[in-house]
Amino acid sequence: MEKILVIGSSGQIGSELVLALRKIYGNDNVFATDIKQPVKEVRDSGPFQMLDVLDYNNLLHFVVRFKITQIYNLAAVLSGNAEKIPLQAWDINMKALMNTLEVSRQSDAKKLFWPSSIAVFGPTTPRHNTPQLTVMEPNTVYGISKLAGERWGEYYVKRYGIDFRSVRYPGLISYKTEPGGGTTDYAVEIFFEAIKNGKYESFLNEDTALPMMFMDDAIQNTIKLMEADESKLSLRSAYNIAGISFTPKELADEIKKQMPGFTISYKPDFRQAIADSWPASIDDSIARNDWGHDEKYDLGKLVDTMLEKVAEKLKG
Ligand code: SER
Repeated sequence: MEKILVIGSSGQIGSELVLALRKIYGNDNVFATDIKQPVKEVRDSGPFQMLDVLDYNNLLHFVVRFKITQIYNLAAVLSGNAEKIPLQAWDINMKALMNTLEVSRQSDAKKLFWPSSIAVFGPTTPRHNTPQLTVMEPNTVYGISKLAGERWGEYYVKRYGIDFRSVRYPGLISYKTEPGGGTTDYAVEIFFEAIKNGKYESFLNEDTALPMMFMDDAIQNTIKLMEADESKLSLRSAYNIAGISFTPKELADEIKKQMPGFTISYKPDFRQAIADSWPASIDDSIARNDWGHDEKYDLGKLVDTMLEKVAEKLKG
């Protein structure tokens, strides 16, 4: 019987991942934890406890006490926010990972998921159809911490035999919980502003293409990777996963098909430079071959779903 700990369960990914895991493994076997209060559905459907991943002793105690077998550690300061507090963000992101790697080594929670990101790439990386193995010189604190984290994860697999698994998420688009402080957040904000005000001011230029993924696809594939037979995994760091690539203008045009009056304007801020250093599109053939990564949402389906669900949410 699996007992699963989700760290960062009140965030953008955690809020949906906990619910998906509870459907598969049973409500009582998925322990949600965070330093923030969870969304109502997480609180009402199973165990939630306040837990700070930076507190190593408490974390180890929790894992031993509840006989945890798998950990999903989603706690991190995102790219935009990290640039405002570089050293603090480095400390938080790395300590959160190292604490879970060590807890995994010291306990029965041998299976560990930790998300990496397209932020591991940098301005010297080939921007189109970016390969799995390529030049990686990230120039953001967040990207540097993700690249270091991938290396540490693989190190713990080879050195200590823990079962670390990871993907390089593209920008994630969701309606349940909004992201906080990322460079790809425009692609979520735009839907809330479209429905509230009929217009949006983008902090990225109209032609900035970035890889994105609808949250359902991210969650389904994350669980698929975690359930894959270990012998199928040819990589023990983090897999490229592609999603769909589009620009703010292409997204706005798709929204206009449903809302002809919608308007967009562009006022790039400091996040433009971050976006410019990231890939426009990704080659994820290794993830597809190894464990069957696939996506169900194209841009049209994503926009239809977001407009419908965000409208429902805003109506309350
Ligand atoms: N979506 C994240 C960010 O923009 C990238 O992993 O920070």
